[in-house]
Amino acid sequence: MKRTKITDLLTPALIGQVVTTAGWVRTRRGNKHVQFVALNDGSTVKNLQVVFDMAKFSDEQLKSVTTGSSIKVTGILVESMGKGQTTEIQAESFVLLGASDPDTYPLQKKGHTLEFLREIAHLRPRTNTFGAVLRIRSALAFAVHKFFQEKGFFYLNTPLITASDCEGAGAMFQVTTLDLANLPKTEDGSIDYSQDFFGKPTALTVSGQLEGELGATALGAIYTFGPTFRAENSNTPRHLSEFWMIEPEMAFYEIEENMDLAEEFIKYCVRYALDHCRDDIEFLSQMYDPELISRLESVLADEFVRLTYTEGVKILEESGKKFEFPVSWGTDLQSEHERYLVEEHFKRPVILTDYPKDIKAFYMKLNEDGKTVRAMDVLFPKIGEIIGGSEREADYNKLLTRIEEMNIPMKDMWWYLDTRKFGTVPHSGFGLGFERLVLFVTGMTNIRDVIPFPRTPNNAEF
Ligand code: 4AD
Ligand code: MG
Repeated sequence: MKRTKITDLLTPALIGQVVTTAGWVRTRRGNKHVQFVALNDGSTVKNLQVVFDMAKFSDEQLKSVTTGSSIKVTGILVESMGKGQTTEIQAESFVLLGASDPDTYPLQKKGHTLEFLREIAHLRPRTNTFGAVLRIRSALAFAVHKFFQEKGFFYLNTPLITASDCEGAGAMFQVTTLDLANLPKTEDGSIDYSQDFFGKPTALTVSGQLEGELGATALGAIYTFGPTFRAENSNTPRHLSEFWMIEPEMAFYEIEENMDLAEEFIKYCVRYALDHCRDDIEFLSQMYDPELISRLESVLADEFVRLTYTEGVKILEESGKKFEFPVSWGTDLQSEHERYLVEEHFKRPVILTDYPKDIKAFYMKLNEDGKTVRAMDVLFPKIGEIIGGSEREADYNKLLTRIEEMNIPMKDMWWYLDTRKFGTVPHSGFGLGFERLVLFVTGMTNIRDVIPFPRTPNNAEF
């Protein structure tokens, strides 16, 4: 008999019918007359109650139906008398698919800490919390594609192995097939990369933007959505060494349209999750963050504040607040500064623009003042920076000057410069850190808890 998912059995539609379902046992309780099993199959945060009339089953048969075991059950779906559940199955027959040793299954008790669950990331998807987070993450990924596809953007797959450092920060993971214990050397004693797989040094990409610009200046508007890698030793609740980024890039867009798109995009994703992941969001809100839903709704209701970095720094300086990192014009903002602007000063998301050129990447368009660039960072409550983007420098000579000033290896950049040589156009784009979006929507507080298998310094388990 065909299996019906638990999410479809929890509505009254199939009441009175004989159905088959399967899942993992969360708990079993009861007495010698009747036994109740709470079954979960991952399709919803809710469990389905399976009722075993012990006149039809023996203790021996049910002995191995323990927490963590998997079973397949056939029975009649009936209306439930139990509190908080619409339906339940009255079991007629069942098969034990896989036993689970009660002495060693780590998810025996409820209420494990998130830290402990990180150590058993191979099993944590079976908890209510991670089930909810992973379903929301999946829905958000779908929303990303839906938003851009409906706007006529093309999904462009940019390379993961690259020979250029987009953000110029040097925080790249090297990719090599050279024998590390026996490196080939040139005459001057340096490593001979001509013998490496690609004939030159390569690394995992930190961003698909540079190739994204090649796509945008041909197809008009593209977006990427893929993994990116950063070898920065940042042990914070908002940094991963491997994270997913969405990078739209649009020809003929100036900075204002770029900001409009970023705001519309992020609101669309939050709305999508509220409309499609209600049970999971409500569960997480009850468990961890009672203000979650009102925070999500307030982001949708408010227009984001737009102000310049210079104005933002002035507000911070005049706030009288003691920050851990002092702030003055020219310094990069820390998440405590970003969150002060968003959570305490404006009480809504902020798009900060026109940052000093020295703290931003080489490709950003220089303003008339010669000091600032047309950058935009979207700052969010609880998160800080969620999006970073800019209008791009479209002028060949100005771009070349920046590349030289910042000592960026020119020979790697010839193909990028060609876009400015042949039919250059104003263009803009941004990058949304997907896990930061998932963090915001789920109300979780550590980025390690919104990606199935986090990669962070000293951690590549699973
Ligand atoms: O601000 P970033 O470094 O910008 C870029 O990479 C540009 N090339 C984007 C573009 O204009 N196309 O990164 C963009 C976003 C950040 O705002 C943040 O949300 C996220 O990526 N991010 C990280 N997320 C998790 N872990 C990290 N280590 C991250 N670094 C950046
Ligand atoms: Mg940034």
